[in-house]
Amino acid sequence: MRIKIAGTGSYAPEHVVTNEDLAGIVDTSDEWIKSRTGISQRRISDGIGTSGMAVKASERALANAGMKAEEIQLILLATSTPDCHFPSGACQVQGELGAVHAAAYDISAACSGFLFALNTAYSFIISGFYRNVLVIGADCLSKVVDWSDRSTCVLFGDGAGAAVVTGEAGGQGGDFGKPCVEQGSGCVPGASGILHMIMGADGWKGPVLSCESRTVGNFLTGTKPEMGYLSMDGQEVFKFAVKKMPEVIEQLLEESGMKLEQVKYLVLHQANYRISESIAKRLKISMERIPMNISRYGNTSAGSVPLLLDELNREGKLKEGDLLVLAGFGAGLTWGAALIRW
Ligand code: COA
Repeated sequence: MRIKIAGTGSYAPEHVVTNEDLAGIVDTSDEWIKSRTGISQRRISDGIGTSGMAVKASERALANAGMKAEEIQLILLATSTPDCHFPSGACQVQGELGAVHAAAYDISAACSGFLFALNTAYSFIISGFYRNVLVIGADCLSKVVDWSDRSTCVLFGDGAGAAVVTGEAGGQGGDFGKPCVEQGSGCVPGASGILHMIMGADGWKGPVLSCESRTVGNFLTGTKPEMGYLSMDGQEVFKFAVKKMPEVIEQLLEESGMKLEQVKYLVLHQANYRISESIAKRLKISMERIPMNISRYGNTSAGSVPLLLDELNREGKLKEGDLLVLAGFGAGLTWGAALIRW
């Protein structure tokens, strides 16, 4: 069975906020932001919500896959900033798209969310449960960022990316129920599509990157619930990312029996240019194999990996047979990675 990404799409709000714009709000500068993060500008919602962005990205992914919404059997929306507590963002997307045959639910794994959702789609397809799954990563972090906190507000932007994931019976890689990578035996030779995936979490480190939701005890205290803001220990997150990402990528390749030299691109979560540079250094590879778009979008959380993947796809940079590693990390703390033969 071949489980492949049949189409990609993305969307970011039109409203551009530059570093100079932020320097008018908090004590920062274009020079500081660019040199510490690689970010020049970000897109910020001018009214569109998480589900609205997800719908636009999904429409583009469906068009790219040549598929109708009615053919989708499951919609997974990875987000930590849904527009409401309920209904889920995925159900809102389903309604807007007219995906009448689809089940739909959200997945919360912050910036690793798209990879968690992709893994979930893969598992449903390999088990024979569904054939066509729409996987979306979308976040509107501008809603939860404290715009008076210079240490966090300069980092994030809003955006969404989507992928149509489909299963084809037969071909290399076995049939239903048979993943391309079997424990200890590497990847089935000649297999294509999604070859292997890894997910992980470390809940003990949750406080280093968090956003409190409603305060508890509303009934007993009689207080009106307040929304929390994103808070972060930037240096801890930085240290975690530059250690964990190379480890995860090496584990993914080792379990698949593949070598880093065979991989064309590492499509990494766009959190900070310097984090990606450190990952490149630790893996001893050139930044040419780590495409970046953080300068234009900032960190779009669950939207970041699929947004970058879609740009590469549309620019014609992904050729059939190319080996890609997708990898991300985020609050939780969480991490995920996928090995894909395009
Ligand atoms: N503009 C100007 N100065 C700023 C600033 C800003 N926007 N933000 C912080 N500073 C100041 C700090 O107050 C500090 O000043 P001090 O030396 O007088 O105390 C100085 O810059 C250095 O701060 P520091 O936190 O040590 O900077 P850093 O090099 O670690 O960079 C981050 C900060 C946030 C860019 C970096 O830690 C990072 O990217 N971490 C990962 C965050 C991340 O990716 N989160 C999402 C994960 S999904």
